[in-house]
Amino acid sequence: MTDRYAVIGHPVAHSKSPWIHAEFARTCGQDIEYTRIEARLDGFERAVDAFRAGGGKGLNVTLPFKEAAFRYCSRPSERARRAGVVNTLSFGAQSSGDTTDGIGLVTDLGKQGVRLKGVRVLLMGAGGAAQGVAGALLDAGVAALVIANRTVGRARALAERFPGLRACGYGDLEGKTFDLIINATSAGLEDKAPALPSGVMGKAAFAYDMVYGRDTPFLASARAAGARTSDGLGMLVEQAAESFFIWRGVKPDTGPVLARLRAA
Ligand code: ATR
Repeated sequence: MTDRYAVIGHPVAHSKSPWIHAEFARTCGQDIEYTRIEARLDGFERAVDAFRAGGGKGLNVTLPFKEAAFRYCSRPSERARRAGVVNTLSFGAQSSGDTTDGIGLVTDLGKQGVRLKGVRVLLMGAGGAAQGVAGALLDAGVAALVIANRTVGRARALAERFPGLRACGYGDLEGKTFDLIINATSAGLEDKAPALPSGVMGKAAFAYDMVYGRDTPFLASARAAGARTSDGLGMLVEQAAESFFIWRGVKPDTGPVLARLRAA
């Protein structure tokens, strides 16, 4: 019997996960099927129950269901509990949940030669994307993690969840500089950028946008300031590899998969 997996979201038609996992399975000699499930906005639990009842082994969870997935699973991992979001569900007698976005980001940064230990990091955004990676950044030993958001109250709520994180609005960043600036907002999807005061982005900085497949205004302004930049395609592949490992116990080689996605 071929083990069945899927990515669940709304919308989900654009997801590259089926292709990525098919490549992992092919190169690791694993017999799996991986499809897409578009759940109704009010139908996440029902869709997951139906997938499980049909023998499904695991799900990747994408927008806007990562918090619903955390509530759904009966056995969240330690890092999922801390983040309050789940992107990887595994089904046996119980449902286990984990979040691999944070480790995916940290792994991708490491492969690009970006040091995290002892550096000052600015994380922009306070939605699910920021929530999923804050813990992993703190664990990587950063010297400071500041979270800035348009709606400051959401940043403060996140700072309460993660001791060690400092919250503010973009205007409060005037005169401050960082070694690494990560854009976890969805602004780039609308060709916009958070209102970062000029000067915050120094020449020495590395700018990372979790959005992939497009050149965002944030990355363009970072390049103009002389910073090194990266989109989030590597994070996408690395978080998928972590999910694959959770399900199959095998670590796929991510390099060739990322290279092929880039070429496409
Ligand atoms: P996600 O799960 O992708 O993080 P979300 O919960 O809708 O999605 O959060 C989107 C994030 O992008 C939020 O931090 C949002 O800021 P607000 O909390 O103030 O809404 C941020 N965002 C979206 N568009 C933005 C823009 N044009 N400028 C700045 N921040 C923006």
